[in-house]
Amino acid sequence: MSNKMWGGRFESAPDAIMEEINASIGFDYKLAMQDIAGSKAHVAMLAEQGVVSPADAAAIGAGLDEIRAEIEDGAFAFSRQLEDIHMNVESRLAEKIGAAAGRLHTARSRNDQVALDFRLWVRDAMDALDLQLRELQRALAEKAAACADWVMPGFTHMQSAQPVTFGHHLLAYVEMCARDRSRFSDARRRLNECPLGAAALAGTSFPIDRHMTAKALGFDRPTANSLDSVSDRDFALEFLAAAAICATHLSRFSEEIVLWSTPQFGFIRLSDKFSTGSSIMPQKRNPDAAELARGKAGRVVGALTGLLTVMKGLPLTYSKDMQEDKEGVFDAAQTLSLCLAAVAGMVRDMTPDAARMKAAAGAGYATATDLADWLVKSLGLPFREAHHVTGRIVGLAAAAGKELEALTLEELRSVEPRVTPEVHGVLGVENSVKSRVSYGGTAPANVRAQAESWLARLADEARAGD
Ligand code: ARG
Repeated sequence: MSNKMWGGRFESAPDAIMEEINASIGFDYKLAMQDIAGSKAHVAMLAEQGVVSPADAAAIGAGLDEIRAEIEDGAFAFSRQLEDIHMNVESRLAEKIGAAAGRLHTARSRNDQVALDFRLWVRDAMDALDLQLRELQRALAEKAAACADWVMPGFTHMQSAQPVTFGHHLLAYVEMCARDRSRFSDARRRLNECPLGAAALAGTSFPIDRHMTAKALGFDRPTANSLDSVSDRDFALEFLAAAAICATHLSRFSEEIVLWSTPQFGFIRLSDKFSTGSSIMPQKRNPDAAELARGKAGRVVGALTGLLTVMKGLPLTYSKDMQEDKEGVFDAAQTLSLCLAAVAGMVRDMTPDAARMKAAAGAGYATATDLADWLVKSLGLPFREAHHVTGRIVGLAAAAGKELEALTLEELRSVEPRVTPEVHGVLGVENSVKSRVSYGGTAPANVRAQAESWLARLADEARAGD
């Protein structure tokens, strides 16, 4: 049997391999709800414009509603012979309502149809991920507020650099999530134009109202160029780019969770809920969720690279290559959603260990910069000279096997005779973080204020969204 949708000039059915390489129903069934919503908007517009009769439009609309219910109930039999979601739905409609079903595809093509469905799907995915990012921000900010003055080592080059607070560290990720959200919402603004009505590529001679369908489907306006409408996949690329950056953030945070939960660091403990054991080493608690969130970033970045490579060099307008746009996007969205849920879960679940963090915060002469700053402020040394003097004092402490705080005044004066007893006030980690009051700095008062302002913003957003 040749294809009943387009088989007019075909005499034989496709080769089995042709069918296998061509069919997308194995994955684009995920567009079913979007496809039906698009068709309903399209047929309502066709009726309004007098292109199909009110009776046919009503039959088509009712048939589509039934099909939606069948799909939701899992009662719909998807067929690979029918290639994709568009033809599966239309064929079922014909079974239900007969010849009138054939009017639905007036002034439309699968090219603008799939561009529409996919945009709607990506838009939904962006909205869902935004909510999850907000939840992660909330979990981070809550922990940050609770740990606003817990000192821990801050690192550069993965070496102890200066003491910071745990709350400050967590709030860094709140900022990263905020940029992720703004990238998605930025991409969403550009996505939100409706390609329906571009038809195959050139537009249509039917008197359609593209503004009507755009509005019905929640778009800001119809797309302006029919060729661009069916060939553009920027919205998917931008989605993947934003997703890849977000997944990269989660990967970085997950790496810190892995490190922090080692017995060597011991900064946090994950409960049994977010740990696994080893089948051979009974003592082990493995942070598998963090490792997987760290690793899954690879899939999301891969999806971006994959689609960029598919699109590269494609001429206008639609080419079947573009059917390859979907699986990577579906997988990236699902992967990112899972990682966001896992990371938010771990943030809520983790028990930070204030004593371990504080002990580590002082190690590695982390307050050396405070000493140098004190020499500048109290003795008027130029910073470069203060840096040099401090270096010699650190050398002395290292040779004596002591922390800076433990050096006596005499020992300090052996390097710089003008040092006064007040210097001991800046050598402790608590004083160090307290002094970092510059805007955006790690002083606990700053951190508390930032955490509270984030929590208030997030609560406002949640209220506005309800
Ligand atoms: N399944 C196709 C896709 O995902 C739908 C569009 C097909 N268009 C066409 N002219 N064959 O891209």
